Amino acid sequence: MAVQLPISDAQYSKQVRKLSEASVHKHWEAYVDISWDDADLQVSLDDPRWRLVADDPLGSHPWYLAQPSKVQSRIALTRLASNMRVGVQFENLLSRALLTLAVKQPNGADTFRYAYHEVIEEGHHTLMFQEVINRSHLPIRGASRLNWYLMKLGQMIGTHVRPEALFFGVLGGEEPIDYFQRKALRHPETLHPLLEKIFRIHISEEARHVSFAQTYLRHCVPRLGTLRRRWLAFTTPLVTAYLAHQMMDPTKDLEKRCGVPHHVIVEAYYKNPVWQAELAESVRKIRDLAVELGIAGPLARRIWKRLGIWAPAAARA
Ligand SMILES: [Fe+2]
Ligand SMILES: [Fe+2]
Repeated sequence: MAVQLPISDAQYSKQVRKLSEASVHKHWEAYVDISWDDADLQVSLDDPRWRLVADDPLGSHPWYLAQPSKVQSRIALTRLASNMRVGVQFENLLSRALLTLAVKQPNGADTFRYAYHEVIEEGHHTLMFQEVINRSHLPIRGASRLNWYLMKLGQMIGTHVRPEALFFGVLGGEEPIDYFQRKALRHPETLHPLLEKIFRIHISEEARHVSFAQTYLRHCVPRLGTLRRRWLAFTTPLVTAYLAHQMMDPTKDLEKRCGVPHHVIVEAYYKNPVWQAELAESVRKIRDLAVELGIAGPLARRIWKRLGIWAPAAARA
């Protein structure tokens, strides 16, 4: 059902209070709800249960299929752990932004309480991700130094100058992960049980985070002046494409730590139209929100298309 824009202050408060209540009644803790010492949940490099998740195109590349089982497991765990490390970095920056947003709120503001709930949840996600990385004993690095500084710069601008861009950045990081984790859970038999558990927890809590970002934007964007909306229309596809690639592209760890040839990475991901279409699909809800908020006019659409993240309507149905 279409949302009537702009949403009022009362509607905003009601939805944010609802999300805060949900955080109280449905939440998970990294060291309470996961039995890390269960024999079934152990992380071992040569465990054949580590497989690239369904729809990860490297998993069907002839080079990967020709590797011995132990090498395939190492590649799968490296791919997973290195992207979790990028997730840790993203959630770190997101938590800093939410804490800053919270402390700027007046007494009694619903946003203050919700922001703290989200920070607490992201804290537990980070603990889960980092625990997997630690137990893999892999020298994982995550985002390159350049990308880490770019993400930090974007976070600072969003936090202190352009909160509307910050929340499109939140969606740009969270929606692609959510999309691919949901797809992976359609084939739970192919997932290591630890991964299945973490994905289920993450998806449940991220639904609230996505809902808050959407609510914030529906409340805030219609009230912006013309210039600021134009600026947002221009920057939203850039931020979305950049973060979707940061979260979903393989990191350099695959080449450096596992010896995956560069041309294999290029064929599997960067020159693979199926993977590129998947990436575009993973940000569909962000695109739809930009359209709904009136910041995806003809010029902005050209930017979305040029960046390869605008799927035709038929593919979006
Ligand atoms: Fe998270
Ligand atoms: Fe989140």
